[in-house]
Amino acid sequence: MSDLDNLREHLLVAVEASAGLEALEAVRVDALGKQGRVTQLLKSLGKMTPEERQAEGPRIHGLREAVTDAIAARKAALEQAALSARLASERLDLTLPVDAAPAGSVHPVSQVMDELAEIFADLGFSVAMGPEIEDDWHNFTALNIPETHPARAMHDTFYVERSEASMAREGQSPPSDGGGSATDAARMVLRTHTSPVQIRAMMDGPPPIRLIAPGRVYRSDWDATHTPMFHQVEGLVIDRNIHLGHLKWTLETFLKAFFERDDIVLRLRPSYFPFTEPSAEVDVGWHLDKGRRRLGGQEGWMELLGSGMVHRRVIAACGLDPAEWQGFAFGVGVDRLAMLKYGMDDLRPFFEADGRWTRHYGFSALDLPTLSGGLSA
Ligand code: DAH
Repeated sequence: MSDLDNLREHLLVAVEASAGLEALEAVRVDALGKQGRVTQLLKSLGKMTPEERQAEGPRIHGLREAVTDAIAARKAALEQAALSARLASERLDLTLPVDAAPAGSVHPVSQVMDELAEIFADLGFSVAMGPEIEDDWHNFTALNIPETHPARAMHDTFYVERSEASMAREGQSPPSDGGGSATDAARMVLRTHTSPVQIRAMMDGPPPIRLIAPGRVYRSDWDATHTPMFHQVEGLVIDRNIHLGHLKWTLETFLKAFFERDDIVLRLRPSYFPFTEPSAEVDVGWHLDKGRRRLGGQEGWMELLGSGMVHRRVIAACGLDPAEWQGFAFGVGVDRLAMLKYGMDDLRPFFEADGRWTRHYGFSALDLPTLSGGLSA
């Protein structure tokens, strides 16, 4: 056998013998890395005479191809084996009898929503719900969000196609060009915020209104702090003679109760939302505790929620007279509240349904949050 055949034999055996991805990578570097043996051979082609190159070239290139293919095949096999092993070890037998002791726990998002309902019930707020598949009018137009607002773009918002049958049922004619000419009311979206519940509440009944609206919202986003589905809670108060002071007091009372600290300090920063005027971004003060930021005090500020006095155009769009009725609104991420209160850094595991995570961060189903007994005891 020639040296080349020996090398080929040696490398292919080494590839097959690699017991794991790391070992395989070592073989790859040894053969095909910058200083690899096959790489050296390829480099030696440059120094050969044309005749030698004609003879050796195909053999060396053939060797490189054979080794490359063998490594790819071995890699696929090792990955498949690793996946199978993981599936086998994480296997759930749904037919096993139920454990007598309850193993379930309350998800932090549910826990926080229960805490919010408890806090706001004490302030005389009710809990309202709205549809998650919302029409464009409630989600955008009635909230004074202009046609050109970036939130309306396809890459931010999930638009929902409606079948012609469902439109016919509702007495609407289907759009002629696949969506572009659909009227606001006919175009459906996965709601991008809980604010449309404000519109539904104002159109539903005469004020006074005092509500919170917790629920799922959807945006086209994915990283450590953004998931395509997440949770918000909306607050809305509509009555006579409501002013910014009511908003500030309500937020302060809510956040002190929620974070279970008296030293929560708020800062209202002028901002812009189409549906409020004036609008304020609310920052909460934090302090350092063993190198970690904790809410309370005012060594620094972090942005927490959006709020403002409900825009008179929004009140008018709901058929109410803005000269008679005013109010405030706010919106805040429930997941973000949970992360801040209970110390999670990554949002994605919230929605991966991994029992190990929910066991660690979950709450006992028997411990209902109450203001008197403690929200998160
Ligand atoms: N809807 C806003 C959002 O999703 C949050 C918000 C800001 C809600 C200000 C409000 C408000 O009610 O007044 O980003």
